[in-house]
Parts: sequence; structure tokens; C-alpha cells
Amino acid sequence: MAEEIGYLKNDPNFATRAIHEGNEPEQWNSMAVVPPISMATTFKQDGPADFKEFEYGRSGNPTRNCLEKCLAATEETKHCITFASGLAATTTITHLLSAGDHVISMDDLYGGTNRYFRRVASRMGIEVTFVDATDAKNVADAFKDNTKMVWIETPTNPTLKLVDIAAVAALVKPRENTFLVVDNTFMSAYLQRPILFGADLVLHSCTKYMNGHTDVIMGAVCTNRDDLHERLRFLQNAIGPVPSPFDCYLLNRSLKTLAVRMEQHMKNGFAVARFLEGHPCVEKVIHPGLPSHPQHELAKRQCYGHSGMLSFYIKGNNLETSKKFFKQLKVFTLAESLESLLNSEDRDKLGITDGLIRLSCGLEGTDDLIKDLDQALKAVV
Ligand SMILES: Cc1ncc(COP(=O)(O)O)c(C=O)c1O
Repeated sequence: MAEEIGYLKNDPNFATRAIHEGNEPEQWNSMAVVPPISMATTFKQDGPADFKEFEYGRSGNPTRNCLEKCLAATEETKHCITFASGLAATTTITHLLSAGDHVISMDDLYGGTNRYFRRVASRMGIEVTFVDATDAKNVADAFKDNTKMVWIETPTNPTLKLVDIAAVAALVKPRENTFLVVDNTFMSAYLQRPILFGADLVLHSCTKYMNGHTDVIMGAVCTNRDDLHERLRFLQNAIGPVPSPFDCYLLNRSLKTLAVRMEQHMKNGFAVARFLEGHPCVEKVIHPGLPSHPQHELAKRQCYGHSGMLSFYIKGNNLETSKKFFKQLKVFTLAESLESLLNSEDRDKLGITDGLIRLSCGLEGTDDLIKDLDQALKAVV
């Protein structure tokens, strides 16, 4: 369906890689077809510091190794390193910097990353400038002599604005000591692969689409750069925020269905967006796959489709109506709101009002999702 809309043609081998890479049965004497959960925290040595592949569970683990190979294959990168959460990955990347370094990031950023930069990294002497990165010129204007990292997220949450990854990468590339990070959480490796547009590091909160079953918290960083990979591998061990072998097993299993899951999220998201666009109780729908989205052309140039995330403004645009709407829903579940991390001035600037509702369309039957929204809208507006 993504191709009908004019998105990039996806790699037909994606699902095969996500199922088999790093999972080769030949690596085990048992020929197990899925990687065993290896719980050992330490590994026998023939003599002091004379070990085979693994030494200690924080520095390396067989189950985690398999997963990292598989994740790298999904993002089409040479390397991947996993972390105990998406924010642990963010923290570890930021440890590539030193006090006195400068970061360019975005005003419309995941709230937890925003909080980390403003309230934690800033205390370690890292200076962060937040710009509207939907216009690459704003990024260009924000560079300083000490800029070491540019951090973008596309599409943004909850207003689904896009950043032109290639345009920002072109600004970063000539600066030898600056690297570009793209948080790819909301698209998953199936729908967007920022490395192909010049990103140096691709970050995932695997807690979201990559795992997709709401039962694992994990982060991952993928890269083609040997230098950054080596430094991050050192930091993964030196800082210690590693995922558990059991979580690695679960995520590895989830990747086997990533392609089919994302196709269904995409199908449901489009169907709901189109339904809401024609609904009399809805003021405006935001979905990059709709021609009404101001960056629809960029979405088609940069992505293989769009996930189940969309936002809309409910008629009346007030908190009471939105609250009533949430109460009426039966299939959709109200979960944590990220907007609460923003102050009202920032909210206004970003177009976040009391009538803005973000939906994450799951894997349920399309008609059930639409019927649920329809009855809730009719009941309150
Ligand atoms: C875009 C984005 N990046 C990073 C994170 C942080 O990931 P985690 O919750 O796994 O620490 C999240 C979590 O919601 C996210 O939505």
C-alpha cells in the first residue's frame, strides 16, 4: 500500500534478514534454531585473561550478540549495540561528548530526551540548543565551533513534523568532529533507515515498535562507523546499562514479525487517518501519508511508509471534550501523555493544544478501531 501512495520501494529481503541474521543454528552445538537464553554472568577462562568469545556478562553475552547482529541487519548497518532502555542509549551516546561541548537538537523532541538534555546533560557541562529542525537552515545557523553532536527525531511526536535527514547530514558531514544522531523510534527500521541518508548513529527505543509487544524496555544504537562503534562498545561496558539476556531473547523473537506488524500498523493508521479526515467532529488530521500533510513530498522521499501514529484536533478544541472523548473509547487505551513535559508556551509554539489527540493504531481489526473512534466522537461533540 505504501507504494501506491508513492513512498520509497522497500527492500523485499527485509523480513528475511530480520528473521535469520544473527540466528544461524550452526553457531550452536545444539543447532538450536532460535538463540538460547544465556544467563551466565561470567565465562570460564583457560588462564587469566585467556578466554574464548566471552569474558563477563556486562561486556558480552551470547543472546545479546545474536540480537545485535539482527538489529544491525534491519537498519542495514555494520554494527549495533543494545542498552537497558532507549534513554540509556541516549545517555551513553551523550557520554561520547565532554564538558564544554555543544549539541544542536530540536524543539519538538521526545519529552524524555528533552528532559535528559535540559536537566541532566546540562549539569555535566553539555550545552544544548533546541531549534525547529524542520527547516535545515535553522540547524545550519545553530552551529558553533564546539558543536559535536546534532540530534534529530523524525517524524516528531505528537505533531508529526518531518526533518529532512539528508539535508541535515549534508551540514554535519563537512565537520570532521561532529556526528548526526537520528532517533528512529517512531518509524522502526522497517519504515525508515536514516543511515542511507547520511546519519552517523541511529537510535531506537526498542520498547516501541521494534519489540511491539509492550513487554520489553530496551534501546539500540546502529552505525556504520567503526570509530563510533568502538567508543560506544567501550562505554556500554564502562557505564554498564546493558539489557538482560531474557529481554534480548524477547526482542530477537519480536523482530521476526517486525515487517508484518509494521504493514498492519501502517494499514490501520492510514484507514483511521482517512476516516477522521472526513469526520464532521474533527478539525484537522496530521498524518505524513496524507496529501494534506505539509511535508508529504519529503515523507515519500525519505520513508518506506508510515507507522500507526497519527494526531488530530477534535472540534471544540478544549480539554473537557478531549477528556470525555478518552472516557468513551473502548478499544483504544489512554496511556502516558508526553505533552505534560512541555510548558504552555512551548506547547503553543508547537501546535499542541488541549484538543490535540495522538493516536497509536495497533494491530486490531481496522473496522473495530474506526467504529470505536466514531462512537466516541459522536458521543462528545
Ligand atoms: C522517540 C523516543 N525516543 C526515546 C524514547 C526513550 O525510550 P525508553 O522508554 O525505552 O527509555 C522514547 C520513549 O517513549 C521515545 O518515544
